[in-house]
Amino acid sequence: MALWGGRFSGGPAESVAALSRSVHFDWRLAPYDIRVNRAHLQGLVIQGVISAENGEKIDGALQELFQEIAQGKFTYIDSDEDVHSAIERGLTAKLGELGGAIRAGRSRNDLVVTDFKLFLIDHIVEIAGLLTQLVEAINRQAEGHTQTIAPGFTHLQHAQPIVFGHEFAKHSHGLLRDIDRISDWLERNSFSPLGAGALAGSALQPNPESSAETLGFIGTMGNSIDATSDRDFVAEALFIFAMVGVHLSRLGEEFTLWSTSEFGWVTVADAYSTGSSIMPQKKNPDIAELARGKSGRLVGNLTSLLVTLKGLPFAYNRDLQEDKEPVFDSVETLTTLLPALIGMVSTATFHHEKISRDVTAGFSLATEIADFLSRKGIPFATAHEVAGKCVKACELKQIELHQLSDAELHGIHPSLTPDIRLSLTAQGAVESRISSLGTSPTSVMEQISTLQAENELAKRWIAGEAKRFTEMMES
Ligand code: ARG
Repeated sequence: MALWGGRFSGGPAESVAALSRSVHFDWRLAPYDIRVNRAHLQGLVIQGVISAENGEKIDGALQELFQEIAQGKFTYIDSDEDVHSAIERGLTAKLGELGGAIRAGRSRNDLVVTDFKLFLIDHIVEIAGLLTQLVEAINRQAEGHTQTIAPGFTHLQHAQPIVFGHEFAKHSHGLLRDIDRISDWLERNSFSPLGAGALAGSALQPNPESSAETLGFIGTMGNSIDATSDRDFVAEALFIFAMVGVHLSRLGEEFTLWSTSEFGWVTVADAYSTGSSIMPQKKNPDIAELARGKSGRLVGNLTSLLVTLKGLPFAYNRDLQEDKEPVFDSVETLTTLLPALIGMVSTATFHHEKISRDVTAGFSLATEIADFLSRKGIPFATAHEVAGKCVKACELKQIELHQLSDAELHGIHPSLTPDIRLSLTAQGAVESRISSLGTSPTSVMEQISTLQAENELAKRWIAGEAKRFTEMMES
């Protein structure tokens, strides 16, 4: 069904209808469209534009449609241009001419953006919930490794020993920041565009604050032209999804690397691995690789929207129809990827002995020598130089730092007294880093319990938001 045509001499050309059509993807907005229409209707009844009696009939028909859509009994047909047209067709089929009354005081321009905002609120909260589950899985694994010492890397070269729980829990921090971004997003974007009409506001609906409240928004937006044009909330959401993707890609990369036979740090459970069609022995970390790969499309979706928006005139332009598919794709990507990753992380087995195997390789205790001399009052640049000489001496003799004799140490610098040996162990190195963000086992245990507490808080607000939203949709 088309929502226009009075001034046209015929329908659009077939090619135009095919190009213009969005119902095959924006049908996902159907439940939100009905909810927004109901809130708008309520406002029209208050304003006396629609009588209470007709208002009840229309609301009843909208609620029936809501059920029929959920049960798959009502869906779009080829001739529907978009979700809004399909729903008005459904309404008109039930109510005749009265079905068209709902269009008073609103335009698809404010309707579509309001529907879309509700869709995003609903799904961004769902994604936040999945992120808390992943954080939980990461924390649980990290908790089991607060005493496991691992080589820490910079430039993918051995750098300094660290606690493996510290290494693994780092992923939770980025993901909790993503959850925090979602919370900011919700606060900033909780204003309704409905009431903007085509662009100028509506003469039939002077009080859109009432529908904003019904839909769970804090209030209405401040400018009707901005309201129909603003897609900042979409770009911000796509940025959050892309950032999550980037975080997951780095987690995926570590699982891929750590599960190689060269590392052997982790075994991914069979249910979260895949095989090869030719090499029977293979067990591949495809989930981790997909986590890495999916980030590409998540970043691409953000770029796609920003390019659509760049230089776009205000208010509504049809280019804006291109805002939806990137979002649907990002939401689908994350709601498919996250459950698999949660499963992969929580069922993975980490191999303590392999992780700790090479902690002091690559002279990773050299910084301990420099720190030791620094504590004795030697300027760090000199201390660094002396530690470098120790490394050089070891390289020549093909030994490790702790294998230098007292005499050799003294020969390199008189302040390298035998008590340095206390610092020349991986255990000593990690235990000395007791700051709140450092790698000592005690610090790491505290960091993980802080992460857990933050995650619990996040879970609570997310459950509250989800409940509020479901109640709004069902009211
Ligand atoms: N399908 C359109 C979209 O997604 C709905 C808005 C159409 N508005 C218009 N003025 N043609 O953007």
